[in-house]
Amino acid sequence: MPTVSVKNAQTAENTTPTERSFEVNEGELMFDGLDRQGCTLPHGCLAGSCGSCRVEILEGVENISPPSAIERNTIEALIAEYNQKYGEDHVKGKTIRLSCRTKVNGNVVIEALKS
Ligand code: FES
Repeated sequence: MPTVSVKNAQTAENTTPTERSFEVNEGELMFDGLDRQGCTLPHGCLAGSCGSCRVEILEGVENISPPSAIERNTIEALIAEYNQKYGEDHVKGKTIRLSCRTKVNGNVVIEALKS
């Protein structure tokens, strides 16, 4: 089973930011696999259009599904927003994905991104 390690994870029983690892089913949506185990990332639509569930993939980019067209559009809008708010260096070179649309096929390390 793939492992998703979440930096600064907060769960119901542990509200202190830390790093936690969760085993998810191969091919499972990242958000669903984490939520099932009490690690509920920020979210809204759960359909790839609001961007609330954004995460940065710190390791294991090769172990996730490629983004769909709707996810790509949402991520492009998020990057434009970050660039406008914080400058282009803020997310330059980072891999941003939507956890509600990203399927996990192998080990990854992620961190939830703030808006
Ligand atoms: S919850 Fe809206 S894009 Fe994931």
